[in-house]
Amino acid sequence: MLPEGLALPVGDNSRMSTTQQHRIAPSILSADFTRLGEEVTKVIAAGADWIHFDVMDNHYVPNLTFGPMICSALKPLATTAAGVPVPVDVHLMVQPVDALAQAFADAGADYISFHPDASAHVHRSVQAIKARGCKAGLVFNPAAPLDVLDWVIEDIDLVLIMSVNPGFGGQSFIDSALRKIEQARKRIDACGKDIRLEVDGGIKADNIARVASAGADTFVAGSAIFGKPDYKAVVDAMRAALRA
Ligand code: DX5
Ligand code: ZN
Repeated sequence: MLPEGLALPVGDNSRMSTTQQHRIAPSILSADFTRLGEEVTKVIAAGADWIHFDVMDNHYVPNLTFGPMICSALKPLATTAAGVPVPVDVHLMVQPVDALAQAFADAGADYISFHPDASAHVHRSVQAIKARGCKAGLVFNPAAPLDVLDWVIEDIDLVLIMSVNPGFGGQSFIDSALRKIEQARKRIDACGKDIRLEVDGGIKADNIARVASAGADTFVAGSAIFGKPDYKAVVDAMRAALRA
């Protein structure tokens, strides 16, 4: 577990308050699977703040990716060259949730997020993740309402708004996510807790500023980063867009 805010690279966001600091979380779903470890090291050197780890089970979503063994193999690489830990952000697209959440906690995940509609007992799943020393997040599909937050927002550390339907990288950003990000931001601010607002799907350098303006502070990007030869150029362009 990484104590949030203590060891994270603050990069270009050092003038902002802790809650508003932007994080860029490359999704290794779009990395070269023949050399995943190298890709993690390379994208961290390029300025990644978090590593986003997409877990798909061919049941909750129509695709199959990686499990806890890959996570624990990659975990030692989730550090900057200076030895600063880089949080591993596990996005579970699985049903049921609890057994795999526990396995990913044991595999070194820092954040574990799940889709509330995939758990029979959302509050219990959140508590189980936190009891393993991880931060807990809830993920909302493009057509899912935020209502469950009325009952658990005080218990969670992250809200993840999907701006594509989960299951695949490289899809286009769904614009209605912007309204949902605004609503989620209001709920987080009203709650007053330090909760990150993450957005996942179709994020590029040319739309990241709009997403930030809607209230997001953490940005998942897969194909935009791993689809280009120079990862640092993309991360830099995203940070420049966020500054502007
Ligand atoms: C989709 C995944 C995303 C995906 C994002 O189910 O949760 O994290 O990898 O990929 P891009 O950035 O290519 O839309
Ligand atoms: Zn994801």
